[in-house]
Amino acid sequence: MLYCSTMTEKKFPDGFYWGAATASYQVEGGIDNNDWAEAARAKRVPPCGIACDHYNKYEQDFDIAKELGHTAHRFSIEWARIEPEEGKFDVESIAHYRRVLEALKSRNIIPFVTIWHFTLPLWFTKSGGFERADSPEIFSRYATFVVKELGDLCGHFSTMNEPNVFGSNGWLRGSWPPFKRFAITDLVSITNSGRIYESKAKKGLSPVFLYFRVMKNLAKAHNKSYEAIKKVSPNTEISVVKHVIVFDSNWNPFNKIKAAIANYFWTGIFMDRTHKYCDSIGLNYYFYTQFGDKKQWRKTDMDWNFAPERIYDALFMLKKYNKPLFISEAGLADADDSGRAEYIEKQVSATWQAVQDGFDVRGHMYWSLLDNYEWALGFEKRFGLVEIDYETLERKIRPSAYGYKKICENNGVVE
Ligand code: BGC
Repeated sequence: MLYCSTMTEKKFPDGFYWGAATASYQVEGGIDNNDWAEAARAKRVPPCGIACDHYNKYEQDFDIAKELGHTAHRFSIEWARIEPEEGKFDVESIAHYRRVLEALKSRNIIPFVTIWHFTLPLWFTKSGGFERADSPEIFSRYATFVVKELGDLCGHFSTMNEPNVFGSNGWLRGSWPPFKRFAITDLVSITNSGRIYESKAKKGLSPVFLYFRVMKNLAKAHNKSYEAIKKVSPNTEISVVKHVIVFDSNWNPFNKIKAAIANYFWTGIFMDRTHKYCDSIGLNYYFYTQFGDKKQWRKTDMDWNFAPERIYDALFMLKKYNKPLFISEAGLADADDSGRAEYIEKQVSATWQAVQDGFDVRGHMYWSLLDNYEWALGFEKRFGLVEIDYETLERKIRPSAYGYKKICENNGVVE
């Protein structure tokens, strides 16, 4: 093959999968029996309403994904739809998600199902949610049911999305349901939690104990689900989706210690508890920060450092668990689409470098296919490859989506 002298190619191994991710509550619309809908009724978070109406428009959205060259798609199942009352499973909701999976299959797009992405059925959360001692069993019963019902149409399930984000926003920062707040966390702003509604959160010391209890129960819930699912469906690939913050430091040894503690707190504890119960690990990467850093960072619309190349460090932090990795989410809020193409290219190039360096990375899912409900921040932040007009529900493909399409179709970056 002849190359012009300036052309560089960063090709991924054959079979590497490319796509984007969404999550049920953020895009589907029409869900009123979970903790977020209840919190919206209490005016503690913005209402979600019909969101992108993806529940009805998934065919159209998958046509767009196909047109954009995607070969994989990650989406989540809404627990409150499947198990609206404790122990009672809703047949019509399962039928819906079967249709969604069929729709992906007919377009040759590989599905990655997340069994639980932040939102909880009201009956569960009202009776204590993941503070409950029996929550691991309750979760595992639900997770196993989902795999039994959908496993013939999907080979890859992630039990849960970002346990640490769920736990810290709910029990430390108090900005997400159930709004329990450990006051010292006012000093740090690290996740997508929003600040608008925090003043009403319950303060005190006890949330910190509850946080650790919840985190322990989440790890147990994952591990139990893994064991139970393997009994009914031994060939199903099971992962956990882990939000990794890269805490780095300057030369200062004190800062290096701080970074090591922060990385252990945020990533190490949970992964140490669960990695033996994972066939693969999904990485969600958004956030790089450096203790002692004086640099003036360019920012995304979330006010997060624009550091796509640091996805390498996040992959590095997961590499030690010796499991196949995939990027389950990475992306940015960028309403005018001015930095998205560059961001994607840089994160893909850094992932390519990781593969060159021997990391076993199998796929890349951009967050998100569609603009969506950004939790406590409502609909203002725009993460989508596809812009949503929330008045008309019209879908408009952003220019950067075509840049990503080239990457997907070339199986890498060709410059
Ligand atoms: C979550 C998504 C969220 C995205 C952007 C991730 O933490 O999984 O639900 O929309 O980040 O903040």
